[in-house]
Amino acid sequence: MNASTQPETTSFDFSEKCLSALTSWSEQVKQVTLATGEKVWLAKGYEEVRLILSDARFGAGDEPIHRPSWSEDERKIGRLLHNDAPEHGWYRQPLNKVFSARRIQRLEPRIREITREQLDVLSKRQNRSADLIETFALPVPERVIHEMLGILPVFRSQFREIIEGLLRRGQTSEESRVVVDQALDCMCRVIEEIRRAPTGGLLDELIATGQFADVVLADLAVTLLMGGYLTITGMVTESVAVLSQNSVARRNLLAGALQSSETVEELLRYITVIQYGVDRVAREHIRLGGQEIKEGDRVIAFLPAANRDPALCPHPEEMDATRRRVRHASFGFGPHQCLGQQLARVELEVMLAELFGRFPHLRPARTCEALPRRIETVIGGFDRFPVTW
Ligand code: HEM
Repeated sequence: MNASTQPETTSFDFSEKCLSALTSWSEQVKQVTLATGEKVWLAKGYEEVRLILSDARFGAGDEPIHRPSWSEDERKIGRLLHNDAPEHGWYRQPLNKVFSARRIQRLEPRIREITREQLDVLSKRQNRSADLIETFALPVPERVIHEMLGILPVFRSQFREIIEGLLRRGQTSEESRVVVDQALDCMCRVIEEIRRAPTGGLLDELIATGQFADVVLADLAVTLLMGGYLTITGMVTESVAVLSQNSVARRNLLAGALQSSETVEELLRYITVIQYGVDRVAREHIRLGGQEIKEGDRVIAFLPAANRDPALCPHPEEMDATRRRVRHASFGFGPHQCLGQQLARVELEVMLAELFGRFPHLRPARTCEALPRRIETVIGGFDRFPVTW
């Protein structure tokens, strides 16, 4: 405590040093000062993170890049992520059906087909080496989510750049305005085309409900693209990095449905691709983890730390494909829990099993520590991932 009895806060910039210091904190929830100078609460315990994301006293804050007052025709992105009940349910409910476990299971053969097509592309690269992101880890999930939505392939490269822009952190409001406009304009063009000639995807279904104005529909579709493929790209490359050092896990992936899904679940826990966690705002005064959180305070549910909580399993810092399934926080909790989690699981199981089934000796061409990481975006992974086989 300083002279004015304000508790001192720890500086926290998500650097390796700060992350490794987390394990020595005695508190599960602690106030930190971010590089921007903003003071926020950071929750590292699994139970605290679960409570923050499930308890209606914490709202899905409108800040930092979004403002309150969502009128029907406002040109914004994030209605789904940045609304609380009951508005949140209005946007989420029509999507739940399409992302249900049963509907996703029906997509499995098509996901496998796309996966094999991209593996053919990989196999044709010279000298038995290629960038795994360019040939496989990006195009597979990108093609899957574009097809699910019914977006024609001509739009693929435009969205690729736009989505990268939307996921970048620390943009000025001007920069963010430009990319939000580009995203909405591009998606509104897609919707217009689909109105003229339906493509048989989710956008057809949503248009048919008549529930949403075009700009709202565009916002929802862009949100699905934001969550829908770079998460898988990041998970696949990080998983290959881990699996190249772990032959037991690699064998398990090919040993049948049960072992393969258990291995993917452990990879999801160990990797935590939503690398900076997720934000909430306290809607009232709350006591949590021995701390007094005031109304309006911002709280970060720090998923990477929750996934390494020693209360979850022995040696949570190790990836162990032989342990019994461990709970994890990677898909979040509560009303905003990941809409695409069943899709993510199927894609990861299919992609990793097919990849190592066809290229059993595939490995990173360089030490992974030397490869550039995606530190500027919400979703982790690598910028490039050269492999050889
Ligand atoms: C390994 C892959 C993935 C991980 C780790 C992941 C993680 C997450 C997390 C942590 C949240 C909660 C955000 C919050 O509480 O604020 C979330 C929400 C969401 N995810 Fe995923 N996700 C993945 C894949 C996907 C895929 C494939 C889709 C497909 C469209 C998707 C779509 C969404 C959507 C739309 C939301 C917002 C849900 C809402 O606010 O109601 N995600 N995801």
